[in-house]
Amino acid sequence: MIISGSIKETRNQVKEWKKQGLSVGLVPTMGYLHEGHKSLIERARKENDKVCVSIFVNPMQFGPNEDLDSYPRDLERDSKICEEAGVDLIFHPEVEEMYGPNFCGFVDMHTLPEKLCGASRPVHFRGVQTVVSKLFHIMPADRAYFGQKDAQQLAIIRRMVIDLDFDIEIIGCPIIREEDGLAKSSRNTYLSAEERAQAVILNQSLEEAMKAIEAGEKDAAKIKSIITDKLNTCPLAKIDYVEVVSFDTIQPIEKVEGAVLIAIAVYIGSTRLIDNRILM
Ligand code: PAJ
Repeated sequence: MIISGSIKETRNQVKEWKKQGLSVGLVPTMGYLHEGHKSLIERARKENDKVCVSIFVNPMQFGPNEDLDSYPRDLERDSKICEEAGVDLIFHPEVEEMYGPNFCGFVDMHTLPEKLCGASRPVHFRGVQTVVSKLFHIMPADRAYFGQKDAQQLAIIRRMVIDLDFDIEIIGCPIIREEDGLAKSSRNTYLSAEERAQAVILNQSLEEAMKAIEAGEKDAAKIKSIITDKLNTCPLAKIDYVEVVSFDTIQPIEKVEGAVLIAIAVYIGSTRLIDNRILM
């Protein structure tokens, strides 16, 4: 397994594989890998000759008061996980390699990034779009793998690839959960034992919404209030947002029909967690 912090070396290696007629899968991550990341790597392993994983805690997608400095990092552990999963290359650049001294090129988008997480994290998606564009140029892969855990991110990347003509296929992968239903996340490590116990409320509230939908409920406002009521039963939960939107446009809808994203963001103590359901 190659571990490289160099853009030039990484790009040359991927180009070399492409020249040999090999297919390449890319899994962009910020590291501290868990089962969620592993599921993307395993899928990439099955569908491609070569697998690249990027590990880069991207400062550009963190707001000034967010957790950039405390975000967990452990390259040694991540490398072991990647090696065992059959990864061929880890791209692990320093910040200076990705953003030189006069850096000023951003990839931005209207409407899709404005609601949900974009509303409370105004610079977040511009940072994600910019770094993912760079990663696609550095590792010109055939396919890139993203989790539905970050559903708005997935919708934005899909839109970006269509609108800006990136020659890469975007594969969305299902959410991997803990046994009690909490979506796996590197940020779960921030939770105290009491917070961790209460964090199951996110998935439970979405379960209640799904039950209502299965029983025929189509009114988005009703679905939102079912989720909100359930979340409000949890003393440590503070709602950031509960939204029912079109998965294609991320705009609010009144009726649950077509491709629908039910997305929530909730503070458990000071840790902000997200979860969702996508209905197709
Ligand atoms: P990160 O949070 O490390 O996530 C990397 C990828 O793993 C994302 O596509 C995310 O949706 C997926 N993932 C995380 N938890 C998951 C889970 N429980 N089940 C399934 N997939 C899961 O998302 C980012 O990094 C960054 O924004 C990035 C795209 C790398 C750009 O910096």
